[in-house]
Amino acid sequence: MQFFIDTADVGEIRDLAATGLVDGITTNPSLVAKTGRPFLEVVQEICEIVPGPVSAEVTATDHPTMLAEGRKLAGLAPNVCVKVPLTPDGLKTCKALTDEGTQVNVTLCFSAAQAILAAKAGATYVSPFVGRLDDIGAVGMDLIGDIVEIYAAYPEIRTQVLVASVRGPQHVIEAAKLGADVATVPPAVLRAMFKHPLTDKGLDGFLADWAKTGQTILSDEDGHGEPARRSA
Ligand code: E4P
Repeated sequence: MQFFIDTADVGEIRDLAATGLVDGITTNPSLVAKTGRPFLEVVQEICEIVPGPVSAEVTATDHPTMLAEGRKLAGLAPNVCVKVPLTPDGLKTCKALTDEGTQVNVTLCFSAAQAILAAKAGATYVSPFVGRLDDIGAVGMDLIGDIVEIYAAYPEIRTQVLVASVRGPQHVIEAAKLGADVATVPPAVLRAMFKHPLTDKGLDGFLADWAKTGQTILSDEDGHGEPARRSA
């Protein structure tokens, strides 16, 4: 499973990219607005930090303007993935951009029927929003299961299922169990995935016991620390 980070905050991206666990980035107009920075500049900067796909969303709603915006965004860097909404004009734009060799992420997917259309339009990714479905009393993960099952029935479908609107590690676990290709997670969710109280407690115990030995693994010979104390 691939991990994308769902943010336009360049500081967060730099920090998390350093973990080596980030495969790509997704942004949306709301996330860009939060930064208060010029959109095109932000996209370019993110593309320089992360070599994987960086989703940048068009903001027009009619096909000709979406296409022009998509081409402009795609011209910013080779790893831009143009994001279009799941509307008739959005899918028309998806098809045109895909035919030109541009990666496209079809966003705001809330049903399996919509996901079938996105695949038909040749989308590189379809983004079902699980958290927003949960918010209205539906079960977002049921949609992931349906899409994964449908796509698996047609080997010619190359569209990847990109689980979006992720609210916590449990969403990631469930998405992974269902075989989703990608999860795009807010920075706080990626950080939360590292955490377990027993890991912290276990490490404290190991370090306390290690300190009692007075040993170090690295010595002056290695260019680090104190020489290891020889046992009698
Ligand atoms: C995905 O590409 C979207 O940017 C994002 O996951 C939306 O999440 P939200 O429902 O938390 O706004």
